[in-house]
Amino acid sequence: MSWTVKPSRTQEITKRTEPYLSDEAKAKYEKDLIPRYPERRGALLPILHDLQHHERCVPHQAMVEVAQFLNITPGEVLDTVSFYEEFHVEPVGRHVVAVCQSVACEACGHAAVLDHLKDKLGIDEHETTADGKVTLLALECLGACEKAPCMLRNDELIGPLTPDQAARLVDELE
Ligand code: FES
Repeated sequence: MSWTVKPSRTQEITKRTEPYLSDEAKAKYEKDLIPRYPERRGALLPILHDLQHHERCVPHQAMVEVAQFLNITPGEVLDTVSFYEEFHVEPVGRHVVAVCQSVACEACGHAAVLDHLKDKLGIDEHETTADGKVTLLALECLGACEKAPCMLRNDELIGPLTPDQAARLVDELE
């Protein structure tokens, strides 16, 4: 494993004119989310999930907007986005297939499943097919070790799997 240093301080943030947090979305969060938490910052994760769901990522511009909305720093939002594997800075494909690579799944043959999917899709892990259909991920424990080796197909947890079964499940995606 190696650490890659990113020049965050000088990084250009791609911006679009239309805000990610529309007035309508902010009003909804204000009404439905903020009252649930003792502090505004408590709404951070649900808002990030909402963005990830609708935009298929949480872009840097959106992180700044969320920080302003919750009265926290953009760095705190970035820390959260980069900590959780569910969030992506670049858009993911229309479907996300995530193979567990933690110890129980590793012991039960996750590598064969992952390698088979890589070959089938023609991409490496953490890449998206050229047609934008599937993003392939390798994640840490999915909390279902008794199903090892297992994977998430979008929100569906499936296991134990053989490589061929995993490939068929990917074939079923439209
Ligand atoms: Fe794979 Fe726990 S190690 S689900």
